[in-house]
Amino acid sequence: MKKFFVVLIATLLAAGAAAVVLWSGAYNIAASSQHTQAVYSLLEYTMRRSVRLRASGIVPPPLNTPGLFERGAACYQDRCEQCHGAPGVAQNDIALGMQPLPGPLVDASVRWNTRELYWITRNGITMSGMPAWQFQLSEQDMWSLVAFIERLPLLSPVAYQQIVAPRRATKCSIDPDAKLASSAALSADAVRGKAALSQYGCNGCHKIPGITGADVDVGPPLAGLARRQLIAGEIANTADQMVRWLRNPQEVDPLTAMPNLGVTERDARDMAAFLATLL
Ligand code: HEC
Ligand code: HEC
Repeated sequence: MKKFFVVLIATLLAAGAAAVVLWSGAYNIAASSQHTQAVYSLLEYTMRRSVRLRASGIVPPPLNTPGLFERGAACYQDRCEQCHGAPGVAQNDIALGMQPLPGPLVDASVRWNTRELYWITRNGITMSGMPAWQFQLSEQDMWSLVAFIERLPLLSPVAYQQIVAPRRATKCSIDPDAKLASSAALSADAVRGKAALSQYGCNGCHKIPGITGADVDVGPPLAGLARRQLIAGEIANTADQMVRWLRNPQEVDPLTAMPNLGVTERDARDMAAFLATLL
């Protein structure tokens, strides 16, 4: 019984001390100051365990198909080099101001296996600045990047330049106007649409039920959207019209402050399906 009270009091004291640290603002969140080693190690450990668990079910496709590595190199210099640098190339100044610093990926394949590299590329790492690429890059391109990163340790600065120089003009992105590949893809996916909302930054302007975000009111709150007759007071609230609005708000109302976010047809359909659940 006595032991129980000792443990209880010690726990309460520890929780109280933690609360005081948080409340007082003593922990420095400046990107110009390092995490303490204890916090850094805790975050790093949590990230490793989390990626390992979530990537475990992924089955990689063959990564030695002709052209895949070269495509990966082109995508890498278009989308990753700014932050991670490359053989003989340093990160740009935006990346150098980030904390954690996005390191070179030369040794990433030592730390992560194939499916884990794919998982990180696809989903990003929260609170680190590593973006999720699943709404920006095709599946094929994400795997091409993995094929490239796995061969990165063998690449000299000269070899890297030889591969990327003829491909500098390559833009690695999903064509927003690409038609849906098959009729199967036409059935909109509300769960995917919900994930897409935060990837397009909709929650930076709108309060949206079910999406974590700051208390913002740049655009109208989207709660109860499914019950509204009109979208933005202009067009009928149907799935097709919602897709039209999300893909190009200025086409509906040239004066609207809602920006054109380059939403793809598929992502717009999926987001519309989710928005239709907001009763
Ligand atoms: C805006 C900057 C930024 C861009 C662009 C970026 N990353 Fe990252 N990346 C980060 C940060 C920050 C981390 C986390 C570093 C840490 O926690 O130590 C990271 C971590 C990673 C890791 C894990 C590295 C390791 O060794 O543990 C991989 C793999 C990765 N990124 C792949 C990519 C790929 C592939 C691309 C391009 C499609 C990319 N990143 C683009 C910022 C970026
Ligand atoms: C930069 C801020 C901003 C971003 C980002 C933004 N919106 Fe908007 N949104 C607005 C504003 C402002 C309006 C009001 C427009 C009007 O009435 O002309 C609006 C209107 C809307 C409406 C109509 C609401 C109603 O009550 O009729 C919907 C639906 C909507 N936005 C969804 C989205 C989605 C989904 C995204 C992400 C793909 C998004 N918005 C991103 C600012 C934004």
